[in-house]
Amino acid sequence: MVLTEESMMRTRVVAQPIEQSLFCNGAALQSNRAVSSSDFVQYIRDYCEFDSKTIEFVEEGITYFINEFWTSAQRAAHSIHEISYRACFKPQLPAFFIDRLTSSGDIVLDPFMGRGTTPIEAHLRGRIAFGNDINPLSLLLTRPRLRVPEIERIQHILDSVSWKKGEIERDDLLVFYHPSTLRQLCALRDWLIREAPLTDTNPDPAVDWIRMVALNRLTGHSPGFFSVRTMPPNQAVSIDAQRKINEKNQQEPREKNVAKLIMKKTKSLLSDGVPKFSRDSILLCGAADRLSKINDGIVSLIVTSPPFLDVVQYADDNWLRCWFAHIDIDSIDMAMHRDELVWQAMVKDVLKEAARVLKDGGHVAFEVGEVRGGKLLLEKLVWWAAEDLPFERVCVIVNEQSFTKTSNCWGVANNAKGTNSNRIVLLRRIPR
Ligand SMILES: C[S@@+](CC[C@H](N)C(=O)[O-])C[C@H]1O[C@@H](n2cnc3c(N)ncnc32)[C@H](O)[C@@H]1O
Repeated sequence: MVLTEESMMRTRVVAQPIEQSLFCNGAALQSNRAVSSSDFVQYIRDYCEFDSKTIEFVEEGITYFINEFWTSAQRAAHSIHEISYRACFKPQLPAFFIDRLTSSGDIVLDPFMGRGTTPIEAHLRGRIAFGNDINPLSLLLTRPRLRVPEIERIQHILDSVSWKKGEIERDDLLVFYHPSTLRQLCALRDWLIREAPLTDTNPDPAVDWIRMVALNRLTGHSPGFFSVRTMPPNQAVSIDAQRKINEKNQQEPREKNVAKLIMKKTKSLLSDGVPKFSRDSILLCGAADRLSKINDGIVSLIVTSPPFLDVVQYADDNWLRCWFAHIDIDSIDMAMHRDELVWQAMVKDVLKEAARVLKDGGHVAFEVGEVRGGKLLLEKLVWWAAEDLPFERVCVIVNEQSFTKTSNCWGVANNAKGTNSNRIVLLRRIPR
């Protein structure tokens, strides 16, 4: 099952370096060219792409810029991003920094990559994608979208699965699935672990792709998922909670055709075209403060977002995906910090490692969300964590989308778990 050069040549390729000129009120930044911090700050100050002026102020020595710098509505992202993951950011966020702070062929890294938004957007924009996450699930969600196989091959491989041989190992999962669907899933799960064990760092891209799509279709709130109606796909509820949902909605799981749903989602993910096959990306699975496989001084830009204290329960949300992928979620040392000082120490360690792998003049765009009803401003903790590290602390950029503009920009009006504005601490590596 080898993807040949010839079959890759036949694959429709759309992702090429994106060249853009960005002009606004006389301030111009040419993408595909790295810029200085002062040029970038001036550009942010003058920014008016969505007809609102940048608000600038200094608080506790930190310069803040607030505006609608990117918007999900006006710049649709590539369909290949449509893999749900808890607390992921929108592709427009990394795109904003990649376009303005790197050139074609530069390395862009996310040490907490989650579903892989940064590496995938970097690849789509002609950069070299590097990523890391402590949870192997991230690798399984990201790698296949950097090495997309031909659609015909995915269908061919799906046809080779012995769907009827599946045996139900866990009866409790019948709260989510019709017995026939669960048998198909068990057949697929066994087949995947044989064809592409987790230890295989270079599995067949078609097998890898099928696993990624299946992981994404396990549970959800519409008929396109394998399960009965439940929560959105990035949050698998517990067996007990699902039992209650079924009782309340008087519903029972219906039979689904797993292979058909995988093909349907595949076509939807590739509806904006098939990205170029990546040969130079590097994806790692480990702690964000120990990226030992990445050499010193080679990364141009880091766009990342760590776990926000203990706000999101990644292990609970992903238990079913981890079951399907044979991942022992309890053995993963996920960063969960109730305490702000411990969280800040973790951020400092990650920034130290970032300073090691970054090129001189390279940037970090470190995104944090609003937590505890906006009472705790994590960006300040990040800013202070960077104090004695080899970084110029450039500014904090707050992206406020128009629907939140009237709300308090500190997030008081926003919900406690989600975030409506993105707050990004921008740092620049001081030359060695
Ligand atoms: C806020 S999410 C990142 C989401 C990502 N920006 C995206 O768009 O999908 C934080 C990620 O950090 C990962 N993580 C938690 N502790 C970690 C650690 N010590 N090192 C690396 N990754 C970690 C979690 O598994 C989770 O995927």
